[in-house]
Formats: sequence, structure tokens, C-alpha cells
Amino acid sequence: MSKPSRLVLSPSDSLIEALLTDRRAALVYLADDVCILESADRTLLESSQGNGRKWTRIFEEYHLVNADNDKAQGVVVSAFFDWLTDRYSNEIETTRNLACYEYLYGFANQFREVPTPTAVLDVGCGPGTILRSDVAHTAQVLVGYDISDIAAKAAISAGMTVMSRDEFVSGSARFDVALSAYTMHYTCDLAETLAGVQCNLKPGGVWALNFHKGIGLAAFFACLRSSALELAGQFSHSSFGPIVAVKMG
Ligand SMILES: C[S@@+](CC[C@H](N)C(=O)[O-])C[C@H]1O[C@@H](n2cnc3c(N)ncnc32)[C@H](O)[C@@H]1O
Repeated sequence: MSKPSRLVLSPSDSLIEALLTDRRAALVYLADDVCILESADRTLLESSQGNGRKWTRIFEEYHLVNADNDKAQGVVVSAFFDWLTDRYSNEIETTRNLACYEYLYGFANQFREVPTPTAVLDVGCGPGTILRSDVAHTAQVLVGYDISDIAAKAAISAGMTVMSRDEFVSGSARFDVALSAYTMHYTCDLAETLAGVQCNLKPGGVWALNFHKGIGLAAFFACLRSSALELAGQFSHSSFGPIVAVKMG
């Protein structure tokens, strides 16, 4: 039997009250910054779209109701991953994420003048999935960053070095490569994320990222225009969605 569909949204969203008056919907979790509802009847969730409201299937049965802006989206998404982190590895197909990291790393290296040795920054590290990939064995230095404090703590427990938000936004240009696997389609804190990567990459450093099902690609390109990062080559299509590499000049 398929799992019930789940909606992830801000607790202040009027949709919550509207959906909970229907007995087919149930509350799964409610905290200060996130609410999760579920329904075995997918049509109920589908009918909540429209009137300018949109939600995006982020993975498996989870659908994110798009917030008004990328900052507000960051608040909901980080609280969602705070809740999910304990069970994260059971919810995803880990081999896919590991393959994505390895693909992104190979893709990034195509645009580097001197491909070794490598200091790698994992933006959206989650609970440290990358530690199980070949990238972790190849990299000379590996540091993670995540907007979810609980995901960051899980990555530290798994043996990863993780930087704080303050360290991320005031980075000292020490990384050759930045990778974001299954992260940027959440479209969170775009200006801050691009500025953070920008100050952490060395000149000539490359950030490679995938956009699951192409979600968030247009918003990313719009934000890229006002950053010092430049598109490296054309974006490539892959089974992980479009792959983009951007380079520090
Ligand atoms: C689906 S998980 C992927 C985790 C890991 N990369 C993997 O492949 O298993 C997405 C992670 O990205 C984080 N995230 C989303 N947007 C982010 C951003 N702009 N900066 C840093 N972390 C972000 C979330 O908190 C979450 O832990």
C-alpha cells in the first residue's frame, strides 16, 4: 500500500485549518516553524492548489507548500529537516544521493584548471551522507554546512566537520570545490547561499549542484546574475535532474 501524501507548510498557513476540517486529513507534526499534514487521499491535497498556491513534491511522499519568498521557505525547510533528520536515511534511496555526489564531483573537476588536491565544501550536507561516497575518500579536506541545526549535529556525530552559519557567510576562500546534492531545489535563502559559497571558494573554485526535476533552476539563475559566480559551461541533463557548475572568477 502506498504511503499517505504529506504536506509541509508554515504553521501560519490558512490552508491548515481548511484541510483539517476534512476528516481525510490529519496532523502529523506541529512546531513553531513547520506543520506537517497527511492524507491518504491525494486528491484532497491536489485540490488545495490553485488561487496562486503551489506546492512542490520534494521527495517521496513529501510536498512543500511554496512560501512567499526564499527566506520564509528556508525557515520552514530547516524546521522540516530538524524533524526529519533522525529518519532521513530511511526515507531516501541513499545509493542515489551517493551517486549524485560522485557525479557532481566529477562534473566540478571538469572546470578546474588543477584538479587535485581538493578541499570540498558540502552545502546542504544533511546528516553527512557524503561521508559514505568516494568523494569523502578523495577529498583532502571535507567540511559541511546545513541550514538545519539538527542535520548539522547528526553530520558531526557521523564524523564530519560542519561549519556554523556565521562561518559560512564569512568564509575565507579555502575550498576548491563546493557540492550541493539534492539541496538547491528547496530554493532557500538564495542570496545568502550564493554569497556564502562565493566567499568560501578559492579563485577558480567550482560549485556543482543538481536541481531535482529542474525545480528551483530559474530562481537560481535569476539570483546568479547578481553574484560574482559565473556559469561554467552549459548545464547538463542527468538522472539527478539538471546539473549546473558555477565558477569563482
Ligand atoms: C534532501 S537533503 C540532502 C542532504 C544531503 N545532501 C544528501 O544528499 O543526503 C537537503 C538538505 O539541504 C539542506 N538545505 C536546504 N537548502 C539549503 C541551503 N540553502 N543551504 C544549506 N542547506 C540547505 C536541508 O536542511 C537538508 O538537510
